[in-house]
Amino acid sequence: MRMYDLILKKRNRLELTAEEINFFIKGYTNGEIPDYQASALLMAVYFCGLSARETADLTEAMVDSGERADLSAIPGIKVDKHSTGGVGDKTTLVLVPLVAAAGVPVAKMSGRGLGHTGGTVDKLESIPGFRTDLDKTAFIEQVRQVGAAVVAQTGHLAPADKKLYALRDVTATVDSIPLIASSIMSKKIACGADAIVLDVKTGGGAFMRDPDQAFALAEAMVEIGRRADRRTVALVTDMNQPLGYAVGNALEVAEAIDTLRGRGPADLVELCLALGSQVLLLAGVVQGVAEGREKLAGLLQEGAALDMFEKIIVAQGGEQRVLYDSSVLPAAACREEIISSAGGYVQAIRAEKIGQAAMLLGAGRETKESLIDPAVGVVLRKKAGERVERGEVLAVLHVNGRERLPAARESIFSAFTVNDEPFSPAPLIYSVVSRQKRA
Ligand code: URA
Repeated sequence: MRMYDLILKKRNRLELTAEEINFFIKGYTNGEIPDYQASALLMAVYFCGLSARETADLTEAMVDSGERADLSAIPGIKVDKHSTGGVGDKTTLVLVPLVAAAGVPVAKMSGRGLGHTGGTVDKLESIPGFRTDLDKTAFIEQVRQVGAAVVAQTGHLAPADKKLYALRDVTATVDSIPLIASSIMSKKIACGADAIVLDVKTGGGAFMRDPDQAFALAEAMVEIGRRADRRTVALVTDMNQPLGYAVGNALEVAEAIDTLRGRGPADLVELCLALGSQVLLLAGVVQGVAEGREKLAGLLQEGAALDMFEKIIVAQGGEQRVLYDSSVLPAAACREEIISSAGGYVQAIRAEKIGQAAMLLGAGRETKESLIDPAVGVVLRKKAGERVERGEVLAVLHVNGRERLPAARESIFSAFTVNDEPFSPAPLIYSVVSRQKRA
């Protein structure tokens, strides 16, 4: 087999066989196929696309390039959840203990954040002492004993995706739906779950800005799951404004704890119930999503989800007082209020601008090597559609270094639009995609 022939075939819009796709992934991962040929194939895929069968074969080949986590020692149906990333998205911090409290074992491998969307691992590590580097045995044992564990994902899972993603990044081939779908699903399948719930974000703060593109990505991933024998459901959800009020690692942990205490922001609670009820349904714990929502809402109200979070924190070496005393979390040296110069209704809080402000303050990573500051970030005081008076506080910045404060401040001002027109924000959940059907 020759790489040249694969490039030519795809350039001529013909389908690659599973053997050809395996040849490419194996050869590229072990260094036999050079970057220039892999780039040419990626560009041909970008323009000519991949069929559903080719996309599933590419995913499987990338899974086979590395280790597969073996979760078979954990009894029950293991369900994983993945978000394509959004500003203030602390859903995993709430969902993991919440669904574990409902009896679904959660063996969660999470990433660190890059850019304006923080990673779950970064957020959890803002809890003093919290360790995310458990070895395989300790990880599985904790899920068996406690019901849930969250660890940092290692590079041993789907290494082909890691190498290809870096190449796509410098060859303008990231935004191809089959390539994104196979990249995400290869990591999820390698993580070993039996079923997968996906949160595909759309809007200004998401990398899939256009809802139609987000639907297409959701459908492509559900189809990969179906072909790989993993029950998969995707929710397409709004990311025009940040989720909840807090953006920044420790600030988001505090908001997640409030949510587990039954006092969370309405949008965050709603998303957790919507995603969590799908997890319960796929795990076979409930018969329908309505039953799932009711069960989860009850667990939040009675404190069972908070108790489960406490067990996870203790098992992973974290300071458990964080649940009752937020001063345990790292705090920024000063706070600065952003004041509205106009009265009216909040028309927009552009999530990307809020995320950018948080990153300028040090909450996110600009490059993989950047160090993050767990204490800093932004806390909104208003959400889209709310009334605001002139002179009222729109948001509070939590600041440690002042050099980039003017730029962060500017970013927050440009995020908000306030005028006299009453305004209803976009729905939080656009659609549920399961077995190739939108609901
Ligand atoms: N996230 C991924 O993991 N892969 C992509 O290709 C894009 C976003």
